[in-house]
Amino acid sequence: MRIRTFPLPALLGGADISSSRAVVIDTLRMTTTATTALENGGECVFPVATVEGAKEIAHSLSALLCGERDGLKIPGFDFGNSPLEYTPKAVRGRKLIFTTTNGSLAILAAKGADRLYLGCLRNRLALANRLRESVDIALVCAGTLGQFSMEDTLTAGAIIAALPRASYMDDFSHAALALFRLHQGNVHAALSPTAHYRYLQQCGFQGDLDYCLRLDASDALPALSNDALCLV
Ligand code: MLT
Repeated sequence: MRIRTFPLPALLGGADISSSRAVVIDTLRMTTTATTALENGGECVFPVATVEGAKEIAHSLSALLCGERDGLKIPGFDFGNSPLEYTPKAVRGRKLIFTTTNGSLAILAAKGADRLYLGCLRNRLALANRLRESVDIALVCAGTLGQFSMEDTLTAGAIIAALPRASYMDDFSHAALALFRLHQGNVHAALSPTAHYRYLQQCGFQGDLDYCLRLDASDALPALSNDALCLV
C-alpha cells in the first residue's frame, strides 16, 4: 500500500491520483457536516464552487441550499455549515447543494481520483476499514484559505494510524501520523490554539467543535459518483 498526503489541494497539481483512492478531509467542518447530512437520511450532496452555481443547481433539482462564507450561513440559503443543523427531520430524502470556502473546492480538486471518499475524525475508523485492501491512497487536506490547517493533517494521521502498515508513505504522511500519535489523547488541547478552531469558537460554534472532534463516532462513508456524494 502506498500512502500520500497532500496538505493542500493546490499541491495536487502535477500529482497523478487517477489510480488512487482519495479521501478529502475538511474536519472543521465541511466533510463532517456532509457526512452527518447523509448519515441522517439526506439523499445526496452536490459540492459546488460558487454561490451562484449552487443556486442554479438547487433550483433545477429543488434541492436544499447549504453552505457558508466566513463560517456563517449564506443569506437566502436553507442551512449553514454546522453539522448540528442537519437533523433527520431537516434532511431526510432531500438532495443538498453544498458550497463552502474550502471543503467543497477540495472535493472538486480531487475529482480525478479513481474513487473519492469524504473523511473526518468521526468516520476515520470506518473509512480505514473500507480502504484496508487499497493499493494506492491519497489523503487530500482542504486547508483554510490556502493555508495549512492542523485539524485536517491530524485527521489524515488518524486515518493512517487505523490502516495496515504501508509499504510506502511520503514524508507528509509520516508527519501526519506523528502529529496524531502525539495528540490523540487530547485533540481539543492540541487544536484549541489553531486558527480555524479559534475562529469557530469566536463565532459561537463550540458545539460544532465538540461534535466534529469526536473520534470514530460514525460509520457513514460518503463517496462520489458522478457529481454527487452518496453513502456507500
Ligand atoms: C470550509 O469548507 O471552508 C469550512 O468547512 C468552513 C466552515 O467551517 O464553515
